Amino acid sequence: MNGNILNNLGSLPAVFSHGSGSELFDVDGKGYIDFVSGIGVNCLGHAHPALVKAVGEQAARMIHVSNYYNSDKGLEFSKALLGKTGMDRVFFGNSGAEANEAAIKIARKMGHASDKAAGKPEGTRKVIVTLEKSFHGRTVTTLSATGQDKFHDPAFAPYTPGFRHIARNDPGSLDGAFDETTCAFMLECVQGEGGVNLVDAGWAKAACEAARKAGAIVIVDEVQTGVGRTGRFLASEEFGVDPDVVTLAKGIAGGVPMGACLARGKAADILVAGDHQSTFGGNPLACAAGLAVLDELSKPGFLAKVAEKGDYIRSKVSAWKLPCVADVRGKGLMIGIDVTGTAKGPATAAEIQKACLKAGLCVSTAGPQTIRFLPPLVVTMEEIDRGLEIFKTALAG
Ligand SMILES: Cc1ncc(COP(=O)(O)O)c(C=O)c1O
Repeated sequence: MNGNILNNLGSLPAVFSHGSGSELFDVDGKGYIDFVSGIGVNCLGHAHPALVKAVGEQAARMIHVSNYYNSDKGLEFSKALLGKTGMDRVFFGNSGAEANEAAIKIARKMGHASDKAAGKPEGTRKVIVTLEKSFHGRTVTTLSATGQDKFHDPAFAPYTPGFRHIARNDPGSLDGAFDETTCAFMLECVQGEGGVNLVDAGWAKAACEAARKAGAIVIVDEVQTGVGRTGRFLASEEFGVDPDVVTLAKGIAGGVPMGACLARGKAADILVAGDHQSTFGGNPLACAAGLAVLDELSKPGFLAKVAEKGDYIRSKVSAWKLPCVADVRGKGLMIGIDVTGTAKGPATAAEIQKACLKAGLCVSTAGPQTIRFLPPLVVTMEEIDRGLEIFKTALAG
């Protein structure tokens, strides 16, 4: 426990001081295999030489310059990111929630413009449809976008109006989902916080088509799935979703805080000077880190390896055929394992997480009975095997 921090964060009993590759070390020198990577952030693991060099060199040149101006690294990184994703323009912020706030503002302003063009009363096209079990952030508006009741605590009301949640993969949920009131459809192709749930590609395609037919844009929240996590640079590539707006954060700068909202076509042109801003967004330090991440991920075979390592983990855990493992799923290195608990061992995901930590493995949870693995994308087969051995032992209790 750290009594200096507000009580809203529950902390596990470990105090880390440094890391190397996919290993973390606590202040007592104990080593841990890291299957969390800062909740999908440290995609290059810890102390990756290219990232260390890029951040160090940039810190020695210029850490920040207000976005009154451009920076060389800002121009370089935005060009590289747009080249990688095929999008037209990008807004840089500092977190996933901030990237989603920008996406929501783009959608709302497009709805406003569409009302005007169609001669409809102002405020007609304002609704954003998102998925049940989705997670889009912790600001009041992104909580409203989030399709989970547990995040709509009346203590923090009033929430932002104008969001509707529909069931994922249910063809019936598309009946009447999109109409003249809808300005956007926003989805995660793999829901991270909601339990590592995959969207069905056929359903996602039909949903996007229905949204577009009704005049809405498509936003993909790739805050957790993006930047190679699922074995593609964007998960939406794999699911056949062709977005107007993409949001990224987490792994984008390997641990230096950064969020990005990328847009194409009309969505890329709708915001004008003064519409949106963020003091730290896209500063040269974060952009230098982002460039180093992009360089590594663009190396031949890097993303294919991510997919292979994910398949290996899933097939290995499935092959154990443990009665306490109810399901293993995911894409690339975004893996969900439903656990039922054993008579003598830990029963819940939180208990398993604690048991793993004690034994030297960091894992995450995604719901009361779901363990989530988000190892660094550079995790080695040897580290995977060591981590899985600890996990198996912890499951047995
Ligand atoms: C899909 C998704 N969107 C948005 C967020 C919010 O990101 P941040 O915590 O950086 O604001 C998260 C965080 O877990 C996420 O997984």
